[in-house]
Amino acid sequence: MLEVVPLPPEPRSNSLIQTLRWTFRPLPFMQECRQKFGDSFSLKFLGFERPMVLISDPAAIKALYMERSHGLPPGRNIILEPILGSRSILLLEGAEHLARRKLMLPPFHGERMRSYESVVEEAVGAEIDSWPLDREFPIHSRMQAVTLEVILRAVFGVSEGPRLERLRGMLATVLTETASPRVQLVGLASRRFGGRGPWARFEGQLKAVDELLYAEIAEHRSKPDLADRDDILSMLMLSEFEDGSTMDDAELRDQLMTLLLAGHETTATALAWTFDLVLRHAPVLERLRDSLAAGDDAYLRATITESLRLRPVLPLAGRRLAKELSVDGLTLPPGTDVSPAIWLTHTRADLYPQPFAFRPERFLEGGPDTYGWIPFGGGIRRCLGATFAEFEMRIVLREVLTRCDLHKANPAPEKTGRRNITLSPRDGTPVVVTGRHPAREPDLAAV
Ligand code: HEM
Repeated sequence: MLEVVPLPPEPRSNSLIQTLRWTFRPLPFMQECRQKFGDSFSLKFLGFERPMVLISDPAAIKALYMERSHGLPPGRNIILEPILGSRSILLLEGAEHLARRKLMLPPFHGERMRSYESVVEEAVGAEIDSWPLDREFPIHSRMQAVTLEVILRAVFGVSEGPRLERLRGMLATVLTETASPRVQLVGLASRRFGGRGPWARFEGQLKAVDELLYAEIAEHRSKPDLADRDDILSMLMLSEFEDGSTMDDAELRDQLMTLLLAGHETTATALAWTFDLVLRHAPVLERLRDSLAAGDDAYLRATITESLRLRPVLPLAGRRLAKELSVDGLTLPPGTDVSPAIWLTHTRADLYPQPFAFRPERFLEGGPDTYGWIPFGGGIRRCLGATFAEFEMRIVLREVLTRCDLHKANPAPEKTGRRNITLSPRDGTPVVVTGRHPAREPDLAAV
């Protein structure tokens, strides 16, 4: 008889309670599970057939991410497909997924980053100039405006014009509409009961976004200089799959939506968390300012790494096992849904002494362990925009911290809230600017 391998233990509460605790108090819930069960445990989420096994041992995470044949657990599709579309690179699997990675990676590669520098500088510069002095405002929403502007410019080459102006507004509305877990739950329920209520309104908004995207695609197709343009949409239109075919308009829509949404919400949240941490730690802020004034970005990089460690924006980046996973006494059968618990991994005392302290210095000596620092997931599905996001964060932090005398509006650490699938600062990180300095002169040697 075939031996049935038991999954790691799970909390005694039912799936409703587990889902509510996961949704509203994710970090204390995970911490409690770690204390009770150790490195791996199972959770049951409402509406999901199979439990999700959470792991936090880097050796197990390595084994999970190194195996290319694993698929995706169902959560990603249920939550994201209505918005991103079924052809989104975030949702495709196997050969179809790999083919998109090949086409979509080049615009996010190292050397290409330089060309986005002035885009980020301009976007954040305009923001800084618009901030009030001596009046409290939440910096999270301002970061969303910056990162949306940057990704619009990177994707379309421009961000002006009435159509993109409308798109900018509509995308922000769609995200706000779906932001709170309460709206998501009501939305999913009302979807089941036909086309009324929040879901119908949301579908209407999505349709309007689609119309704008298709109009943008059509206009791009008609441009005579498509081959000379360096915006991401032009590059995607011209790139060929191995069989010589190209992406059709419906697929371009899904990939654009994916890049626009995946590319701005997460980065803005990571920036808001970084401001929360840096502004509450005076020695870090001082060292950061001194190193930036000296033109040295090593401490800035370490600060970003440390911020993404302590406040990872996404809690999970899971797989459905295509093959058995067996490592260090943990054996999970094919078909199991498994995800690294990103925050639990990042707060392991054996990897990070004083794991809850914010200490960028810990990354000055050397970078983090590949499978012990996973804010961008890993393996063949690792975040496509990781380099882009870190680059953008460096420029935004540099500009804001050198141009503004910035303070947290209150000294308390931000609590963790939820916005869409992200863990974000609950109050939006309120700050006060008490002084503003002129932008740096352009580097004449580089002109
Ligand atoms: C701090 C900011 C960001 C964080 C924390 C983040 C995090 C993640 C994570 C955890 C995944 C799943 C990886 C996995 O399953 O192993 C992912 C996937 C992805 N991200 Fe990001 N991301 C960020 C910024 C961006 C940006 C700026 C872009 C694009 C401009 C982007 C585009 C994508 C795409 C396309 C995928 C799907 C990759 C695939 O399935 O092959 N992300 N991201």
